[in-house]
Amino acid sequence: MQPCTAWFCSYRCSPSLEAEIRAHLDAAGVQIAAAEESPFGIVCFAEMSNELLSLVRTAAGRFSRVMAVATGAATAVPAWHLLEAGAADTVCWDNNGVATRQIGGKLMRWSEIDGLVHAALSEGLLVGHSAAWQSLLRRIVEAAAYSTAPILLTGESGTGKELLARLVSKVTASPGNGRMPRRELVTVDCGTLAPELSGSEFFGHERGAFTGAYLARDGAFALADGATLLLDEIGEIPLPLQPHILRCIQEGTYKRLGSNVWQKSTFRLVSATNADLEEMVTARRFRLDLYYRVAGCVFRTPPLRDRREDILPLAIHFLGKLLGRTPPELDSHLRDYLVNRDYPGNVRELYQLIQRIAARYSGSGPITPGDLPEEDRPVGPGGPRAWPSEGFMRSISEAVLLGTSLKQISKTAAETAILAAMESERGNVKRAATRLGITDRAIQARRASGRLPGKENYAPKTEPGVDAGGSGNLVEIDRVKETWTPHSARLPSIRLQTA
Ligand SMILES: Nc1ncnc2c1ncn2[C@@H]1O[C@H](COP(=O)(O)OP(=O)(O)OP(=O)(O)O)[C@@H](O)[C@H]1O
Ligand SMILES: [Mg+2]
Repeated sequence: MQPCTAWFCSYRCSPSLEAEIRAHLDAAGVQIAAAEESPFGIVCFAEMSNELLSLVRTAAGRFSRVMAVATGAATAVPAWHLLEAGAADTVCWDNNGVATRQIGGKLMRWSEIDGLVHAALSEGLLVGHSAAWQSLLRRIVEAAAYSTAPILLTGESGTGKELLARLVSKVTASPGNGRMPRRELVTVDCGTLAPELSGSEFFGHERGAFTGAYLARDGAFALADGATLLLDEIGEIPLPLQPHILRCIQEGTYKRLGSNVWQKSTFRLVSATNADLEEMVTARRFRLDLYYRVAGCVFRTPPLRDRREDILPLAIHFLGKLLGRTPPELDSHLRDYLVNRDYPGNVRELYQLIQRIAARYSGSGPITPGDLPEEDRPVGPGGPRAWPSEGFMRSISEAVLLGTSLKQISKTAAETAILAAMESERGNVKRAATRLGITDRAIQARRASGRLPGKENYAPKTEPGVDAGGSGNLVEIDRVKETWTPHSARLPSIRLQTA
């Protein structure tokens, strides 16, 4: 097994058990390292408590995945609470090596998935570093790389379903996978099929099969042999055609129109829709048996409003693409406007807006609010989005349910607001303080106490840092997210007693 690196922390485990677990992991090739060097976290625990859940939640905001390892009496604890708190998986510790192999195997798998996601992101096509987007990419890549199950992508219009289908086709055909030799994505846009020709689009036809069929022609099933087939807007497939499609998906065989010869085709199936297929099934507008054939793994693409952290990186990416050079700075008013605006058309709408802005940009200096076309400007007294938002209310309710005190909620809310203002002002204390109506000193004092990151942390794409030893009695996790905080917020240090 190849060595894997992970941050390690134990919660209420005896020192001898902790040493034993560390030694086993080391022997299995799991290298325990500092948080900054580790993509994954391992949290061993001997007792369940809110404090443990909080620790897991915090670690889950820092590492790409966290493995919770139950020891002793804690092995009887229901795993669901830990998964809900953000653990990627849980394992019960034993001393006969099974748990060690499980942990090692999981970490290996996670490393491979992250490698594939990283490769896809570095191609610069799929932008976004919000937790929701990253988690979606990892789940899709895992399904594409390790299974042959048909993938169904659902989600609002413009959320990137087609791009994700391309990712599936790449990963399915990636070297070492060896399932589908061709990287190609063959797409059928089911929404634009002419009813009288739709059969031919899928199955192809023989010469003379119908009026106007002057030449024989391959359909999508033939073209997709050895590659990935995307049935885009699958909900639009005419009902009478659905049983025939089902047969090809299930058996891998079909007949060209006008032919009696069965043809074979092996392909990876991806379907996409922004319709509610389950509702269509209930309304008998989509066959249930076909639904089960296409919905092997179902993934929902999150709308842009649920991952506002991705708006600026996407905007900058589109600007760079449209201007054909390193994108210019965006004025802070424009940044605020972009982040807070509504995007019913999701990423596609953002792209179109950036196109309009790029068209007005004169080509020097930062992009300013005047570059925003008049018809896009915020009008009337409506002003910014309503606050507190639904997400905020939900977050506070979760905190209350988790037993968080009012003092802690207030403190965290205040520090989150400062972090958000600092983030928005790229680390400029004066401007952040003005925004919040507080003094510079209030921010400086928090920074001096180590509860806020220094200016160097506001470079683009800075990830929240974690500073956790894992070997002592105290684990200090610095600037990490808790799930009940707003998405982009980075939290100040919390100290957790672990032994
Ligand atoms: N994460 C992303 N990174 C970069 N570009 C993106 C991303 N998501 C979407 N886009 C861009 O937004 C546009 C819409 O994406 P896409 O066509 O994949 O959406 P869709 O979910 O298939 O929409 P529809 O349901 O309307 O077909 C495309 O131009 C695509 O390149
Ligand atoms: Mg689409």
